[in-house]
Amino acid sequence: MNLANKKIVITGGADGLGLALSRALVAQGAQVCILSRDQQKIDTAIKELGEKAQGFAVDVSQWQTLSEVANTIGSVDVLINNAGVWIEGLLLDHDVVAIERAIDSNLKGVIFATKAFLPTLSKASESHIINISSTSGLKGRNGQAVYAATKFGVQGFTESLKLDLEKTNIKVTGFYPGGMNTQLFAKAGTPKDNQDWMDTAKVAEILVFMLERDLSMVMDHVVLNKRQTKTSN
Ligand SMILES: NC(=O)c1ccc[n+]([C@@H]2O[C@H](COP(=O)([O-])OP(=O)(O)OC[C@H]3O[C@@H](n4cnc5c(N)ncnc54)[C@H](OP(=O)(O)O)[C@@H]3O)[C@@H](O)[C@H]2O)c1
Repeated sequence: MNLANKKIVITGGADGLGLALSRALVAQGAQVCILSRDQQKIDTAIKELGEKAQGFAVDVSQWQTLSEVANTIGSVDVLINNAGVWIEGLLLDHDVVAIERAIDSNLKGVIFATKAFLPTLSKASESHIINISSTSGLKGRNGQAVYAATKFGVQGFTESLKLDLEKTNIKVTGFYPGGMNTQLFAKAGTPKDNQDWMDTAKVAEILVFMLERDLSMVMDHVVLNKRQTKTSN
């Protein structure tokens, strides 16, 4: 896909990997629509990204607002389901509200955003949905029962959706990154010493490469492990 002037929706696009990807896509001439629940972060991101970017304040787990935003945005070529939150610890220690919040952002949000944008994606001659899961969506890890459940859920959703859409012009790809240098963990109250984990700008380069592939090629899924470092978990 030639990304110039393509309209690309990025959930959670005002922070971390989403913001790095927004920067990389604007540099390719794409129009980026950032969905974030924080208007202040949106304003900061749009100021930096310039006129090729638009922002919409929405929680992706809230269907009514999300579907209104999708109607406002109109035709779309690419959807990147990137929004997510971290939750870590033993199940018995988790507050049920925190569990619900993780399921809402990481799983319900992916399903809702896909449902909201699918009608317009299906009108494009060539379109692509990329769902950002995690290596924790492929492998269980200590202290990650709830996070892994949401990310395994994204894997199941992605694999099945891919089959449902395989005869259409919509490509579906699961993206499974390992640890990145973002504020994801600190925001959840469980900071990591992650300065030497993967750089989001470099990870964004991989996503741009995936999007640019010709319609004849389907990258089924991409797993991106971080190199083992002193601070690896
Ligand atoms: N960082 C890693 O090591 C790592 C590894 C593997 C996979 N991932 C996944 O990669 C994705 C991006 O994470 P990141 O590291 O870039 O984290 P990040 O910097 O915290 O960015 C995630 C963004 O998603 C937003 N978001 C969360 N729930 C939302 C909702 N319900 N509606 C709208 N926006 C919402 C967050 O907003 P708030 O700030 O308001 O929460 C934030 O802006 C996530 O899905 C994460 O699970 C991250």
